Amino acid sequence: MTITVGRKTGEPINFENNPQEKVLQSALRNQLAVPYECATGTCGSCRAKLISGELDQGWVDAPGRKALKTERGEFLMCQAVAQSDCEIRIPSSVSEGSVKGFIPDHYSGTVTQLKQLTDEVIAFSVALEETISFQAGQFMTLEFPDIVGARAYSMVNYAQQTDQLEFVVKRFEGGACSRLLFGQSLELLENQKVTLFGPLGHAVFEPDLEHDLLLLAGGSGIAGMMAMLEQADQIGYLESNSIELVFGVRSAVDIFYLSDLQRLTTKHLNNLKITIALSERMTDGELQQTTNLQVTQAFVHELISAAPTSDHTMAFIAGPPPMVDASIRELITDKGFTAEQIRYDKFA
Ligand code: FES
Repeated sequence: MTITVGRKTGEPINFENNPQEKVLQSALRNQLAVPYECATGTCGSCRAKLISGELDQGWVDAPGRKALKTERGEFLMCQAVAQSDCEIRIPSSVSEGSVKGFIPDHYSGTVTQLKQLTDEVIAFSVALEETISFQAGQFMTLEFPDIVGARAYSMVNYAQQTDQLEFVVKRFEGGACSRLLFGQSLELLENQKVTLFGPLGHAVFEPDLEHDLLLLAGGSGIAGMMAMLEQADQIGYLESNSIELVFGVRSAVDIFYLSDLQRLTTKHLNNLKITIALSERMTDGELQQTTNLQVTQAFVHELISAAPTSDHTMAFIAGPPPMVDASIRELITDKGFTAEQIRYDKFA
């Protein structure tokens, strides 16, 4: 099947769409930089309009559909699957070959190395059938058999090329994926087949820009930040730039990746500062083992004003939407950050 994107100026763009492939996936795979954020139906930013042809709308209850004018043919590209040749319109201008960085594609893999990190957090790896390259901070969508729809998870690890991807998942009450991951013994989940699409996301670490980084993470939002720290460590980025990470969790028992964070701060004492922000009250004697890390009782956004920043600092934010929103507000109003200095992907 062929999808044609009409344009206000210039010739229409045509691209091939595989059977059962989401319109967003085929557009990105064909190097068309169409708008998207979550790629899983929640944000609504992949809105497009069907001019002719037939689409299966996919997930009819997708939160991102709320603002659509469906009577005018609007649909979500990350959900819809073409049933015939289609002509569509996209609100922003698009051009061919405009996807920057690594071209997203479909991958297959097997779940391995499941590990419960806290009561609420599980880490797992996916062994891919082929290698992939991605930028630190990017994410993949994952589809598990017997679970409807895709989930978006950032890569925790970083390598220029790898066939192993590491992810971390926080329990989401009532979520089908949480029921799968938290509801049975981990041994039963090993070797689950999974299909993936990516790499996706715009909030990526670009070492060539030589920014100082302010990383603001809440809960499993730490995933992409771990990949950035790993890449920074691998390439010697911290020899000439500084990174400050604020990692928010509820209480001391909810902290994970502690030993990795300690290893990194111990290695880069001068240029890497990590603070763990506990939103609940700390008890005396807690966290004896936090060598070279600061632990404090605060919300992540409350620590922004004390962070040393400059016009050359780039802030990355990932976590629950209220934490992301509060952090953006604080960065703009208190620190005078411009929109170009703040990077985040909305896929909660
Ligand atoms: Fe499609 Fe978010 S709803 S990208």
